Amino acid sequence: MPSFASIATFATLALGALVSAAPAAPTPNVGVPTAPVSTPSVPPVAPAPPAPTPSVPPMSSFEQRDDVKSFAAIFVELQVSLVPVVAELNYIVTDNCTSDALTPIITDVTNVISAAVTDLNALVGQSAAVILVNVDGTAQLALADVAKLVADVLNLVFSAVGHVLGLANVDISVVVSVCAPLGEIIASLLNVVVSLVGALLGDVLGALLPLIGGLTNVIVNLNVATLLSILNL
Ligand SMILES: *[C@@H]1O[C@H](CO)[C@@H](O)[C@H](O)[C@H]1NC(C)=O
Repeated sequence: MPSFASIATFATLALGALVSAAPAAPTPNVGVPTAPVSTPSVPPVAPAPPAPTPSVPPMSSFEQRDDVKSFAAIFVELQVSLVPVVAELNYIVTDNCTSDALTPIITDVTNVISAAVTDLNALVGQSAAVILVNVDGTAQLALADVAKLVADVLNLVFSAVGHVLGLANVDISVVVSVCAPLGEIIASLLNVVVSLVGALLGDVLGALLPLIGGLTNVIVNLNVATLLSILNL
């Protein structure tokens, strides 16, 4: 990898070459006999000015990437934000499996996912390169990567809901009613994922379903129509 110093040195030399080449242009105009010989060195100088112009668009496209979080960045962030909130669901026991105890936790989970849906909506209309760039910016996500990111989030959330549903003597109808907004926001999440990535990579849900097979019972129990519909359950 070239050091900054060597780049700077090269830039200085390149600039020096341009600067020394530029005065060479007027010179042939003065010295009549030598003009035809040194004239060929002039045209290379003329195309040089366009070069600084192309160096601007790459910069603005980097700025664009900084403004908009990539799909991978949004999902990694979502997962990190969900872990502590979802943990609270996993601490619920039969005694406090009440609407009062569950509602603030489910609201937190829903809000965290809602923020990710907002971020994903901001990606709509961006280039495939911006949408699909991986977290360290070295490659593009493939369909399996996208499915894994989504499945990790769904597994995190629905296994915690499954824990609550599986508690002894729990009133399932309470859990189901408290979790309705969560089911809705997951449906919104899946909708924006499909609209963002489906056209670029293909059947996201087809790749996702095998990864969330263990959650099907939980999702069916929650009985959120939009979610059942998008997952074809
Ligand atoms: C529910 O009770 C368990 C066991 O006492 C406790 O660890 C957990 O924090 C409680 N959760 C809520 C939300 O009250």
